[in-house]
Amino acid sequence: MIEARGLGRTFTTRQGSVEAVRGVDLDVGAGEIVGFLGPNGAGKTVTDL
Ligand SMILES: Nc1ncnc2c1ncn2[C@@H]1O[C@H](COP(=O)(O)OP(=O)(O)OP(=O)(O)O)[C@@H](O)[C@H]1O
Ligand SMILES: [Mg+2]
Repeated sequence: MIEARGLGRTFTTRQGSVEAVRGVDLDVGAGEIVGFLGPNGAGKTVTDL
């Protein structure tokens, strides 16, 4: 079982703060296969599932 609550990631850049991911909640049960979909820049890689 994977449980995540309130995942977030904020980058500090020269232009200021970039809140790339905010408030991701996720439950994945044993044996479940989960796809993580979203448009370019949505935050899939940063969430690092
Ligand atoms: N090192 C970084 N510094 C600043 N912003 C970043 C950094 N890495 C990612 N971001 C920003 O975080 C957001 C999410 O990026 P991410 O790479 O997770 O998207 P993605 O869903 O994986 O996109 P893609 O489908 O193109 O792979 C984007 O707005 C991106 O510009
Ligand atoms: Mg990506």
